[in-house]
Amino acid sequence: MQNQSQAAAPSALLDVFKQIPVKMERADGVWLFDRDGKRYLDFYGGHAVALLGGTHPQLAEVLSTQAHKLLFQSNAVGLEVRERAASRLAAFAPAGLAKVFFVNSGAEANENALRIALRATDRKRVVAVAGAFHGRTAAAAAITAGHESWYGFARAPFDVTVVPYNDVAALAAAVTDDVAALIFEPVQGVAGARAMNPEFVHAARALTREHRAPLIFDEVQCGMGRSGQPFAAQAFGVTPDILTTAKGLAGGFPAGAVLVSDSLASTLKHGDLGTTFGGGPLACALIEAVIDTIVRDDLLGNVRRLSQRLMHETRVGPVVGVQGMGFLLGLRLSRPAGDVLAALRARGILAGSSADPNVLRLLPPLILADAHVDQLVSTLKEIPS
Ligand SMILES: Cc1ncc(COP(=O)(O)O)c(C=O)c1O
Repeated sequence: MQNQSQAAAPSALLDVFKQIPVKMERADGVWLFDRDGKRYLDFYGGHAVALLGGTHPQLAEVLSTQAHKLLFQSNAVGLEVRERAASRLAAFAPAGLAKVFFVNSGAEANENALRIALRATDRKRVVAVAGAFHGRTAAAAAITAGHESWYGFARAPFDVTVVPYNDVAALAAAVTDDVAALIFEPVQGVAGARAMNPEFVHAARALTREHRAPLIFDEVQCGMGRSGQPFAAQAFGVTPDILTTAKGLAGGFPAGAVLVSDSLASTLKHGDLGTTFGGGPLACALIEAVIDTIVRDDLLGNVRRLSQRLMHETRVGPVVGVQGMGFLLGLRLSRPAGDVLAALRARGILAGSSADPNVLRLLPPLILADAHVDQLVSTLKEIPS
């Protein structure tokens, strides 16, 4: 029993998140430990952010070294580490996206991507896909599914057309000469880890080319190796005009990036984009280290191999189907996802929810190993269907 002096004080945090009933304290790779010392296998990854695990020795080392060298300088001051991070990221991304603008989050990346497209085309209609999640800022939220219940602004900053998921005919009708941008997640995250049909992605590229509208891939969640390729763009064999990424980009440190084609880069001049914190040295040192680690440890190969196992072996217990790509997978359930997530948690596994009440999301770190897949499969088998 707690005495009065130990009783928990009311939280000073604004109560806007429904939190799972656990307080995490530390991690060791893919393992998380709560304040009572209970261990959890992390198939949630802090919402796809902990790309290389809850701790990673190289990332800790790089962060500490950079912190001792230089904590911060803005974009008005050149930094070797920023130049290196940009060229590493451009080399990792599909060929043709050679220019990088660093920001701090996914929403900020999408906001800037849309700004670039609207300015370059001088048009004001954006086409998005049903079920999308692009962020909470004014422009990103305007094309996010379900934003009406929380948007809070008087109006969207542009006209919006939403096409049904994977509907090529609707896409062809929507993408015309007045379109400023077509934006979608090649693998939708929040919607429940739904990969687009290749036909839809290829049609999107052809239509946007025909109508000279920039194609934007939001790879905030599915990028940085999570698809089993550096970006899902490479998995589909389609290069967009703009690609946004964030979440796992710096392995847990806030960072986002907008990658643009040379032709769109040439439409921008000094002052067109800006940010204070984006491209700071701590984030950039980590971005470089994250990409180096993915390449050195062949983590893309690891994702591809273990994703096949997850796709084939997790259809047990309450799981009736598996969707998604790489380490962005949705398990379709015979029961409400909330119940299955609680049952997993009670057995020491953390996974994610989704906008679909019958789909739970797996977003594990890229360092996952066979034994962890074994543990997930055997735990799912214990849960009644
Ligand atoms: C695909 C996608 N785009 C954008 C965002 C917004 O990112 P942030 O929360 O970093 O602003 C998210 C966040 O979940 C996302 O999944």
